[in-house]
Amino acid sequence: MQMPFVKVGTLADLPPGSVMQFEAGEETIAVCNADGEIHALEGICPHAGGPLGQGALHGATLVCPWHAWEYDCITGRNSMDEGICLAKFAVRVENGDILVDLPAHA
Ligand code: FES
Repeated sequence: MQMPFVKVGTLADLPPGSVMQFEAGEETIAVCNADGEIHALEGICPHAGGPLGQGALHGATLVCPWHAWEYDCITGRNSMDEGICLAKFAVRVENGDILVDLPAHA
């Protein structure tokens, strides 16, 4: 069975060092290009709901735009509290398109 991969954008839209937000229905995700590696994470900050996809990316560190909580975009973990971890989604890149596995949108 085909996995429900959804196109969230293109590599051309997301150069290394950048992050973008993608919304599909109720789902908001943050898509990061950490030095050429694409990672997709839950896009709502567990602190107070900040839009992580509108934050900043420094190397592999994703910084929330609201109160600057930091997350490792590879593991999803918060830099101060390892118990806080963002959900991650599988990513595929095909022909320059970024595809993310969003199970809710099968
Ligand atoms: S909402 Fe993200 S740090 Fe406060």
